[in-house]
This record gives sequence, structure tokens and C-alpha cells, in this order.
Amino acid sequence: MRFHVFESPKEASAFASNIIAEQIKQKEDTVLGLATGSTPIETYQNLAEKNKNNEISFKKVRTVNLDEYVGLSGDHDQSYRYFMNTNLFDHIDINKENTHVPLGDAEDLEKMCEEYEKLIQDLGGIDLQVLGIGNNGHIGFNEPDIKLYNETHVTDLTESTIEANKRFFESKDEVPRQAVTMGMASILRAKHIIVLAFGTSKADMVKRLKDAYLDPQCPVTFLKIHENVDIIFDKDAGSKL
Ligand code: GLP
Repeated sequence: MRFHVFESPKEASAFASNIIAEQIKQKEDTVLGLATGSTPIETYQNLAEKNKNNEISFKKVRTVNLDEYVGLSGDHDQSYRYFMNTNLFDHIDINKENTHVPLGDAEDLEKMCEEYEKLIQDLGGIDLQVLGIGNNGHIGFNEPDIKLYNETHVTDLTESTIEANKRFFESKDEVPRQAVTMGMASILRAKHIIVLAFGTSKADMVKRLKDAYLDPQCPVTFLKIHENVDIIFDKDAGSKL
């Protein structure tokens, strides 16, 4: 696990977008694992800029997203499909058919989860996974628990996640109580993982990545098993190291 600290989120995002751009230059049909949340937004803006400047092309890139709220269709403005379209896909030359986000409004969610897992496999696995960290240590929507799931599955959201994510909805009541998320193994099978963490609210989580043990009550600690992970954070998120 490599730790990279930067003065500001801006510099950290520039570093992250350069890693992603290099990956795409080396393999034009790269499979990118993508995350939502406020943290990767500037990285996505940098990628759109690089695309505009013809530094990289997304024409052959395939993407799979980590998660989606149950019950929200892709045109709901709080769905993660909508987030990805507006923050990245609408601004780059990607073929939308090559972009995949779990379908939160699928009739048969279990079947959709199985198909999503198979899709990742059929694409040849994830070359580079982008991750944020929930304030409670979740990755994707793998929430703190006494047990963690390996594959894509439906999960109940914890009170702390509902609380943290209510800022995006009109009221707390509107925050979905469930989500579909890639599982721990779906994430850990990625060949390379980059984790972004900005601000003091992530300082405890960055510190937990230095602890000598894994804790299912803090799912991000499981990244320590992986041999190719870059943790990219600003000095506030690194303030407890
Ligand atoms: C959501 C997503 C996570 C993301 C987290 C952090 O809960 N499911 O994948 O990492 O938000 O969000 P932020 O980057 O806004 O702190």
C-alpha cells in the first residue's frame, strides 16, 4: 500500500487523474471501476479536460460503477447513473453502451446482481478501480458489519450513511434505505486500486489503513490484503498519521 499526501485536494486530484490517464494510454480498452461521491469529482473534471485536449480517448474504455441506490431509476437526479452521466460521461467521448452502473430499479435485483458480477468477469476484470471512503469506512456500499459479502449484492444502508448522504436529498426520509453494491471480492479483484480521501472527516479512515489488522466494522481496511493500492489524500485527511 503506497501513501501519497498532497497539500490540497486539487493536487491530489491531478495526481489521480494522471494515473488514470496513463492507464488508458497503455491500454485503450481499459476497464475502469468508478466511484461516486464528492471526492472524485475534480479527478473526473481533469479527465474530461485531458479528453478535450486529445491527450486521452475514452472511445474504447469500458466502465463499471461500484453501486446504486435501490429504487432509483437512472434518470433520478440522485441516482449514481445520473451522477456519472453529469459528472463524467456526458463530457467525454465514451460510448455510453460501454458504461455500466448497477440497475437500482431492476425488477429482480438478485438476478441483476448476478448478471453484474458476470459482466465484470466478461469484461476481463477491472484494470483500475477508483474508490472513495465513506465516513464510516464503507467502500462502495459495503457497510460496517460483523460480516462482509464478496460479490455484488443488495445491502441495507446504515444510519450513519443515511445521515451522511441526506445532504443530497430534500429530506432524510427520501434517502433510499437500501443499495446495490459490488462486494469486497468484486473490488479486491481489481488489478490496481486508487483510493481518494480528502478533509478531516476522512482522517480516522486514513489512519485505520495503517493499523496492523483488518476490521469488518471498517471495510476499507480490507484493502490491505491487496498488493497494488495507492492511497491519495490531502494533508487534512492525513492529519492523524
Ligand atoms: C457514497 C458512495 C461511496 C463514496 C462515499 C463517500 O456513500 N457509496 O462510494 O465513497 O459516498 O462520499 P464523499 O466522497 O462525498 O465523501
